[in-house]
Amino acid sequence: MKEKILDYLNKKHDYLSGDQISKHLGISRQGLWKHIQELKDSGYQIAAVPHLGYRLESCPDRLFVFEVARSLNTKFVGKKIHYFDYLASTMDFAMQLGVDGAAAGSLVLAESQIKGRGRLGRSWFSPKYKGIYLSLILRPKILPAACPILTLMSAVSICEAVKEVTDLDVQIKWPNDVLIHNKKVAGILTEMNAEVDKVNFVVIGIGLNVNNDKKSLIAQATSLKEQQGEEISRVVLLQELLRRIENNYFLLEDKGSSEIINKWRNFNLTLGTRVKVCYQDKHIEGQATDIDADGSLLIRKDSGLIQKISSGDVTHCR
Ligand code: BTN
Repeated sequence: MKEKILDYLNKKHDYLSGDQISKHLGISRQGLWKHIQELKDSGYQIAAVPHLGYRLESCPDRLFVFEVARSLNTKFVGKKIHYFDYLASTMDFAMQLGVDGAAAGSLVLAESQIKGRGRLGRSWFSPKYKGIYLSLILRPKILPAACPILTLMSAVSICEAVKEVTDLDVQIKWPNDVLIHNKKVAGILTEMNAEVDKVNFVVIGIGLNVNNDKKSLIAQATSLKEQQGEEISRVVLLQELLRRIENNYFLLEDKGSSEIINKWRNFNLTLGTRVKVCYQDKHIEGQATDIDADGSLLIRKDSGLIQKISSGDVTHCR
């Protein structure tokens, strides 16, 4: 009902009498008043003037389910949204949902995380109402070894969404760090539940620094607000991101990995540079020459040997 009240108030952009609204929505004046109070408590500014009625003054940038679902227009991504003011980690919740049989496209959103986690045992700083912290359940019909492509697909989707909503130039450091001016703005953590030759489900975790101020960012990180110089609507950005993920997922299903890899190359910061990679307690150094169909990085070592790396931590050498 709250969604309908907001839609109606939004459409008119002017005062609407309580009588008019309750008649239009088929609810009592008392019921309307209660919903309006709850909306105000959630951060919506609604002016109430005797003899004139109600007018929507402003909406908070909260990732409420009805805000995200409104005009999302996806086929399966975000059809079911689990929204929380805070969670330990959206990953834990989504992994459990996956085990419980949640449908592909189910989305877990938290306004903040207490134990947000990143790759390689790192943590992900998740201050309240500043970023987008999500975990998305997918059920791809691919082999476990092919799953890294989903991470690349997610990185591409983040870049496309940020480019659509802001004027910023975003790049990807292999495999999945999204950077602006060499500072990290988003990260992706992919976890899966699989058997040797069958993926049961994959959870894509995305952390995106949106409206963080400098003081709520760790060194080497940035936010869209810091780069753009103004606040960005998290709802609009999240909707765009979900649409991009769905489109790229369908592209992957239809055409295989090649189209996604081509898109990834257009955003890449790593290929053509000299890199140091830490993986499985080893260090290798060389020229990053290309990525493989499965998303692995190909490095030409100084000996001329090409080494394929499927995961690891990359440093670009200057
Ligand atoms: C990385 O770059 O190391 C990956 C960071 C992934 C962070 C996101 S925030 C939402 C989801 N929940 C988590 O605990 N982690 C991922």
